[in-house]
Amino acid sequence: MHCDRTARKMVRGIKGPLLESATELLQRAMDSPWSVDQVEAALVGRGTRHRLRWEQEGEAGRLDPGALIGLLLARRVAHDELEIDLVAVDPAQRRRGIARALLRDLLEAESAEGIVDFRLEMAATNDPARALYASLGFVVVGRRARYYPDGDDALLWSRRSPGAPAMGDRICGRED
Ligand SMILES: CC(C)(COP(=O)(O)OP(=O)(O)OC[C@H]1O[C@@H](n2cnc3c(N)ncnc32)[C@H](O)[C@@H]1OP(=O)(O)O)[C@@H](O)C(=O)NCCC(=O)NCCS
Repeated sequence: MHCDRTARKMVRGIKGPLLESATELLQRAMDSPWSVDQVEAALVGRGTRHRLRWEQEGEAGRLDPGALIGLLLARRVAHDELEIDLVAVDPAQRRRGIARALLRDLLEAESAEGIVDFRLEMAATNDPARALYASLGFVVVGRRARYYPDGDDALLWSRRSPGAPAMGDRICGRED
């Protein structure tokens, strides 16, 4: 896992190779892969968060850009809200708990930083992702009919930290 400031600088330093391996991973893992520009913006843009899983973690944090097998991209969209943009695992490495581990690490670290609402949107027909997010405590809070170009609906999911008010709760505040 690489998520602190040092690692972020390191990611900037190896941006070219990392972008290449991230883009290649998404080509292997996704039906509609992201462009290099999209990956770059999601890795180093303002408010972004990421988790990387390498086949062989290098010594002393050395990254081997040829063996990226898991990628999670997320963005802080408000002081207490984070949007998960993407989780992708190499098809040859699935059902080994990689996506769950990446997500758990993010949920734990960002909860400690004050995030109470984790959100994401995904295709309604993506059964593996539905099972994954449900297993981590996410619940469906909305649906956008025929949202994707192939006509699939989008499901909106949310996971609120324990103790946070539910979405339907009214919260009023006033300062005079
Ligand atoms: C969805 C995806 C990220 C899961 O990655 P993964 O590393 O294989 O998932 P994990 O091994 O951590 O699985 C965790 C749980 O998710 C569920 N799950 C994962 N894959 C599943 C599948 N094919 N069928 C049913 N449930 C599945 C299970 O509940 C699983 O727990 P279990 O193995 O103990 O039963 C992977 O299939 C992928 O990269 N898909 C393409 C990209 C994508 O659709 N991303 C999600 C939307 S952004």
